[in-house]
Amino acid sequence: MIAVLSAIKCHDVTQIRFWVMDEPKGIYWEKIKPLVEVCTFQEPDLRALKNQTAQFKATHLKDYMEWNILAIHGGLFLDLDTISVKDSTHWSTNNKDLFVSLDVEDAVSNPFPYNNAVVMAKAESWIVKKIRYYSRSLMNQSEITWGLTGPILLSIMTEMSSGSATSPDHSVFCPFGGNEISQIYEENPKLELPPDTEIIHLYAKSSEMFEKVDATFVRNSESLLARTIRAILPISDWNVSEWDEQKYLLSRGQHYAGLFRAIRSHKPKIILEIGTSAGDTAVGMIRTAAKLVPDAEIVYWGVDLFENGSEEVWSEEFTGGYKPPKLGVVYDKIKRETWVKVKLIASNSNHLTAKDFHDMGTPNLIYIDGGHSLATIRHDWLLAEELAGPSTVIVFDDYFEEMPFIGCKQIVDAINPILYQVTISSELDDYAHSFGRLRTKLVTVTKNMVGLRGDIGPTGRINSPAATEHSDPAETTYHSWAKDIMNKVRSNDEK
Ligand SMILES: C[S@@+](CC[C@H](N)C(=O)[O-])C[C@H]1O[C@@H](n2cnc3c(N)ncnc32)[C@H](O)[C@@H]1O
Repeated sequence: MIAVLSAIKCHDVTQIRFWVMDEPKGIYWEKIKPLVEVCTFQEPDLRALKNQTAQFKATHLKDYMEWNILAIHGGLFLDLDTISVKDSTHWSTNNKDLFVSLDVEDAVSNPFPYNNAVVMAKAESWIVKKIRYYSRSLMNQSEITWGLTGPILLSIMTEMSSGSATSPDHSVFCPFGGNEISQIYEENPKLELPPDTEIIHLYAKSSEMFEKVDATFVRNSESLLARTIRAILPISDWNVSEWDEQKYLLSRGQHYAGLFRAIRSHKPKIILEIGTSAGDTAVGMIRTAAKLVPDAEIVYWGVDLFENGSEEVWSEEFTGGYKPPKLGVVYDKIKRETWVKVKLIASNSNHLTAKDFHDMGTPNLIYIDGGHSLATIRHDWLLAEELAGPSTVIVFDDYFEEMPFIGCKQIVDAINPILYQVTISSELDDYAHSFGRLRTKLVTVTKNMVGLRGDIGPTGRINSPAATEHSDPAETTYHSWAKDIMNKVRSNDEK
């Protein structure tokens, strides 16, 4: 994507052809597809490629196609591991037929110094037709050595071209060779490109970092590569990232699917999460929402104990020994992986009131996933009710249908169905615990469009004993292990 966008930006482009056997898929392709003419080709039957590895085939088939394309169309041919920095089309006014990139500073002592990652040619030129002819013959041999149809053939032909082929300096098309390219990914704010550089070849196979370049890297890195991309392209060009919901659900559990459904249906611009923890779900929620409301400035507020927690509180909240990172670490992570306004509060949510959220605006989505004690979830629900607008969706994690004395079940079951639409997710996850399984579901709650009724309390819960008193199912229907857990969490519940 960066190769194509930077080529369009930097060169005096009249037409850009993108040659593929099969059309790619994905977010990067979607971004460039409308800008290019897609040219597809069938894999030719070439003897030298039989029984070879995928990498060998791809590399040499690319060479073969390159010489065919250049012999017919001419133009500037760029591999996809290049980045354009300045216009190169001015070379076409020169009387040479072929311009190639020089891999090394010293062209004399290196037997094959030229590289075909960046090649500019006049259409129908004799020299490129000759290279095409030799490349076809070589590809019909039963075996060829690596690079024979690329740098080796090109270097031999350039030397034998009687001056019709040439190369600008190493610094113009390839300022770093295959052995030096790793520098460009390093966190070195002092490393600069030579002033005459027009195109950088990244030698994709030389550095494992090549595959790791994404929007997060470009946004945060001080490497020469990231600085160059930021300097050439506007943020909207490279700020393309994919939140992999399926990967998240596989690692965290299928019951979270309801949270992302709620985001898709409500398209939240202001998100409040109680229990931000390490910020993983925060990043997922923001990225999912950002795709739906691309021009809106998303605001995320998160509450957690962070560094203000204590062993006692975590134990009361039944967090299973888990402690979140410090607020600053989570803040940096969310900022690094998203580009939204973030506010984090390090506090026990029980100590917060609606006033503490005055500057947030009305949240479109509130995700309650903090403490597990009934007292805390009851408090978090009452707070959410107060903060919610008419179309806010409130999502609860931790609906433990087999253990209602922790989690949100008692609070959710007492929500007035006349005032609220309560949906318990069909997806469930069984998490292994020392006492057996913790069967978990997700709940989404939205306001019904009805007026207040006499038998309904100000919080939307029916004023009936069943709803206002805490029933103790563990005492009647559950085993001794359940009572143990209940006793541990109940101390907080009574506060
Ligand atoms: C299950 S984790 C949250 C996971 C997070 N929402 C996610 O999906 O990645 C629960 C978090 O709630 C926090 N927590 C527990 N009790 C709390 C309380 N009373 N007030 C604020 N945060 C609390 C814990 O520190 C923990 O980080």
